[in-house]
Amino acid sequence: MNNMKINEKNVQNFWQHNPCGESLITATNADWELFFKEYDAYRYSTEGHILPELDKLNLKEKKVLEIGIGQAADSEKIIRRGGRWSGLDLTNEAVFRAKKRFALKNIEYDEIKQGSALNIPYPDNSFDIVYSHGVLHHIPEIKKASSEILRVLKSNGRLVIMLYNKNSLNYKLSICLIIRLLMIGLFCGKTWIKSPLLKDHLENAKNEGLFNYLRNPRFLYANTDGPNNPYSKVYDKNLVKQDFPDFSFQNSHCHFLNIRHLPFLKIFPHTILKWLAAHYGWHLWVTLKPTEKQL
Ligand SMILES: C[S@@+](CC[C@H](N)C(=O)[O-])C[C@H]1O[C@@H](n2cnc3c(N)ncnc32)[C@H](O)[C@@H]1O
Repeated sequence: MNNMKINEKNVQNFWQHNPCGESLITATNADWELFFKEYDAYRYSTEGHILPELDKLNLKEKKVLEIGIGQAADSEKIIRRGGRWSGLDLTNEAVFRAKKRFALKNIEYDEIKQGSALNIPYPDNSFDIVYSHGVLHHIPEIKKASSEILRVLKSNGRLVIMLYNKNSLNYKLSICLIIRLLMIGLFCGKTWIKSPLLKDHLENAKNEGLFNYLRNPRFLYANTDGPNNPYSKVYDKNLVKQDFPDFSFQNSHCHFLNIRHLPFLKIFPHTILKWLAAHYGWHLWVTLKPTEKQL
């Protein structure tokens, strides 16, 4: 059985020691300027939809709260688009990195706090937009976070989130099928495995029992943000409605095939990949507005 308890402490511990996206680039924090440069170049080339999505938000003079800031890349882009940015992250590592980025680039912002989406340390009705990219699907007590977000949003505010898409190729084909089959195969030939990532998977499978490890949701947790990620969830529209009961949909669409996990897709022409990403992409972007809010 999975020995790791699903609670906020473990989620915090994981992100504190695995700052978001760090393993995807070669630059290290020996040189922060180079690190942020390389990180941003990687992020916005592999996820080319993010900046056009931010442009659509008309951020000028909007009070924006970003929950889960990671390397603060989108934070900088929000501020550069005229948003009055405040940030919140569970880890002091993310807060440190955001402050480092802003100081290096002389960027001004409203406020930044370490804390949890379960108890947002900002006043009621204070933001036009709450933006949270790739974060809320890592919060086990999501309904509590959703009501906290409602509290800090103005009545005409919007919640803009990116959640993992249940109806995606990355989930249905890669995680549920291909990686599972690969795991079963590797479990038999494990002695020649060199990759640290696969070694961690095999270690988990050994400790928890292969078939326990391969079950959902356990296998999902281990295959979104690394084998030791304690919690994640995938969403479709109905699950969004369940977890955000006081909001209604303004729009939703998906992006990003996560081609690293589905390399054989590279044989298809760009137009087909674009179509696949728009229908079966891994990143489900949703804009929600509060349904009814007492002032
Ligand atoms: C996958 S990273 C996403 C970071 C960034 N938004 C991005 O897209 O790269 C998740 C971030 O959310 C933070 N986080 C996780 N749970 C949180 C919570 N309950 N409240 C606030 N931040 C949280 C983590 O510390 C981490 O920095």
